Amino acid sequence: MQNKEIRLASRPSGMPTGDTFQFVDTEVPELKEGEVLLRSLFISVDPYLRGRMREGKSYVTPFEIGQVIESGGVGEVVESRSQNLKPGDIVSGQLGWRTYNVANAKHLMRTIPGLSPTTALGVLGIPGLTAYFGLLDIGQPKSGETVVVSGAAGSVGMTVCQIARLKGCSVVGIAGSDEKNRYLRDELGVDATINYKTTRDMFGALKEACPNGVDVYFDNVGGAVSDATLPLISDRARIVLCGQISIYNADKLDVGLRPQPFLLIHSASMKGFIITQYASRFAEGVSQLVEWFTTGKLKHAETIVEGFENTPKAFIGLFTGENLGKQIVKV
Ligand SMILES: NC(=O)c1ccc[n+]([C@@H]2O[C@H](COP(=O)([O-])OP(=O)(O)OC[C@H]3O[C@@H](n4cnc5c(N)ncnc54)[C@H](OP(=O)(O)O)[C@@H]3O)[C@@H](O)[C@H]2O)c1
Repeated sequence: MQNKEIRLASRPSGMPTGDTFQFVDTEVPELKEGEVLLRSLFISVDPYLRGRMREGKSYVTPFEIGQVIESGGVGEVVESRSQNLKPGDIVSGQLGWRTYNVANAKHLMRTIPGLSPTTALGVLGIPGLTAYFGLLDIGQPKSGETVVVSGAAGSVGMTVCQIARLKGCSVVGIAGSDEKNRYLRDELGVDATINYKTTRDMFGALKEACPNGVDVYFDNVGGAVSDATLPLISDRARIVLCGQISIYNADKLDVGLRPQPFLLIHSASMKGFIITQYASRFAEGVSQLVEWFTTGKLKHAETIVEGFENTPKAFIGLFTGENLGKQIVKV
């Protein structure tokens, strides 16, 4: 059976381009005991994949040149040599960028019946869990506090904004377009928003939006946006380092404001985390996210690009902000 896959052709310098990826026609291998054949339905493209395209060590093993790119995906079982899954089942898991994947059934999870399977890649999947544990465990927001979220209109960011609102906080979202910011305010109830691409004085805009200072800063982007936020932290503020997308394409280390004086005088803390550290508590997180989602307390947005061949383009679009909410490819 014919298959198509997308491999890492070369390590990008700066922004990935079409040359970073190679499309290859292959054959689907025979199934071994315990394995299933999946027809790809949806592929999740995620910012952290850029880190895996570098040679150096990061928290996930780098892709080798010629290796198939892999990320979260949803597929339909078309053939099964597992007792646990049958043809027609819809499952999610870590899958190759292929039109068909052979996977061991024990690494796959059935998607939740009655809900769109794409939620397993976004609000009820890793991005949702990242928002949940990052905000609640590290950010520890309390009712009445001010929470600032960068990358606020992305998959993680918009979930953070809503959980912070559910906890009774005043939420300030920072995103890269007026349309995204309108969505955050009108659809998600975010109290104030700032467009970091058009605002000249980010510090001034943040100061106005946070008259009592910033109690929790959930940072998805780093760089200049964070430099403008740090001087506004209040006493015992918590800074959650979730992502630094503004520097993922940089070839040199970023130099910016030194956070130590602000952390010191405010007895504040700054903590990074990788969501897999919370794996033993995923069931708790998913259960709470599902309850909020199915009762309408938690909304989500998705940007769906159609066509397997557009997977690299959808990935590259994350770095220019093409997506509102979770960026997904419909295979
Ligand atoms: N720690 C963890 O375990 C963990 C897990 C998942 C994700 N993350 C991190 O969380 C962040 C969000 O991930 P996501 O999956 O939800 O992606 P996302 O926010 O849905 O998509 C990326 C967004 O980043 C913004 N962006 C791109 N370049 C930027 C720049 N130079 N400066 C400011 N904003 C920029 C864009 O929105 P604008 O239009 O607003 O620019 C874009 O839509 C990423 O940094 C990711 O690496 C961390």
